[in-house]
Formats: sequence, structure tokens, C-alpha cells
Amino acid sequence: MIGRLNHVAIVVPDVRAAAALYRNALGAKVSEPVALPPHGVTVVFVELPNTKIELLEPLGEKSPVRGFLERNPSGGMHHLCYEVEDILAARDRLVAQGARVLGDGEPKIGAHDKPVLFLHPKDFNGTLIELEQA
Ligand code: CO
Repeated sequence: MIGRLNHVAIVVPDVRAAAALYRNALGAKVSEPVALPPHGVTVVFVELPNTKIELLEPLGEKSPVRGFLERNPSGGMHHLCYEVEDILAARDRLVAQGARVLGDGEPKIGAHDKPVLFLHPKDFNGTLIELEQA
């Protein structure tokens, strides 16, 4: 059911410093920081040949990643995003198998303007999983 690894998201305390690290130390192709107020993050996209890394800095008091950064002050891996062809079919299959979808269970428009869902990390080996309809 799942397809490509769309991205790995890493929450960081300073997205500009993290972008410089990826650009200079790792020699990666790195975007300018983009503020996404509806998502509560400022993001830098790191383009790799086979996937992307998203560096996320909390934006605003109600940022969904602020608590994560408080628990992991130097940053850390936050979620993996897998592509699916049909997000509603994927959700229904997962729910039928007992997986928990976060929030109200309905897809939301994610940072790439595509429908996304998040699955409870306790159902997936301690890893927060995002599904994105590719
Ligand atoms: Co994501």
C-alpha cells in the first residue's frame, strides 16, 4: 500500500542554522526557509536524490512541534512520510486493523498542498507516521 518515502521530518531549534549545516557540512541542496503559519512551522526543504528532509522550527505559541522541541531541546527526528495513492482507502484499511489516526480522522491539507493524515506513534513502533496522497 505505501509507496515512496516522501520525506523525513526533523524538528530543530534554529532552522537557519540547521539549513547551513545541511548545505555546508553535508553539501545538500537546501531551500530558503518558508514560514507556514497555518501549520505552525518554518520549514526548510532539503532535496536529496531519492527523498526529502524537512527541517521544522516551531512557529507561534500553538505550534504542533513546540512540545516535541521542549522534550528534545537539540532537535530530533519527528516523523516519516510515506506516499499513498488513495488516502481514504489507506485510512479505512488502517482503522480496520486497529491503527489510530490522529485528530478527527479526516485528511488535512499538508505542507505540500496534498491531503495528509498522521498515525499514532504507539501503533507504529514509536514512530509518528504521516501518509500523503501523492
Ligand atoms: Co511531514
